[in-house]
Amino acid sequence: MAVSLSPREVMEDAPVIPVIVLHEVAHAVPLARALVAGGIRMLEVTLRTPVALACIEAIARDVPDAVVGAGTVRSAADAQAAAMAGACFAVSPGYTHAVGKACHDLGLPLLPGVATGSEIMAAQEDGHLALKFFPALQAGGAAMLKAWQGPFGDVVFCPTGGVTPANAPELLALPNVACVGGSWLTPADAVARGDWAHITALAQQAAALPR
Ligand code: 3PG
Repeated sequence: MAVSLSPREVMEDAPVIPVIVLHEVAHAVPLARALVAGGIRMLEVTLRTPVALACIEAIARDVPDAVVGAGTVRSAADAQAAAMAGACFAVSPGYTHAVGKACHDLGLPLLPGVATGSEIMAAQEDGHLALKFFPALQAGGAAMLKAWQGPFGDVVFCPTGGVTPANAPELLALPNVACVGGSWLTPADAVARGDWAHITALAQQAAALPR
């Protein structure tokens, strides 16, 4: 059952939103439990694999302390499928009015992806003030976020793409950054071998990042 959240609440729960790619449904629940045990409960499961929706469904059903969202939402149909699977929020790599409208109609909080001033303005026109900056490091990183503080002072960002434990503190220190996103908490090899203790340790480090 979806909980009611604002996009800002999704961003402010922890310093990092893990970007998760799952290839096996059997990994979903232990991975989610490992992240929650480390203090990270907003989980973005990307719609990039055939099992992604089943993974969202399993986490929503079996890990009540997690708040599972869908990433890589690129269409109204993706948003609909994510909501049906039990996703509590959506993250998109870019922004279209159609995705914004679908999420709004579904009551699904959306973190829309932006990388330019025009994209920020389009998202803002539809009422979005909590945005994902993607791909953050490739598109200008901290310098870009500082430049946006002037014209877009009412917007907060979740930079994602190229973020690491080493560069996260500089990003999290910026006043217009609410959290960061990244895949480093769920390394593919650790997930494949079921090394949940390692993932809990990575989550603990991420949860302790200052902001
Ligand atoms: C993504 O959506 O894949 C994110 O950009 C993750 O990027 P990262 O692997 O550089 O953290």
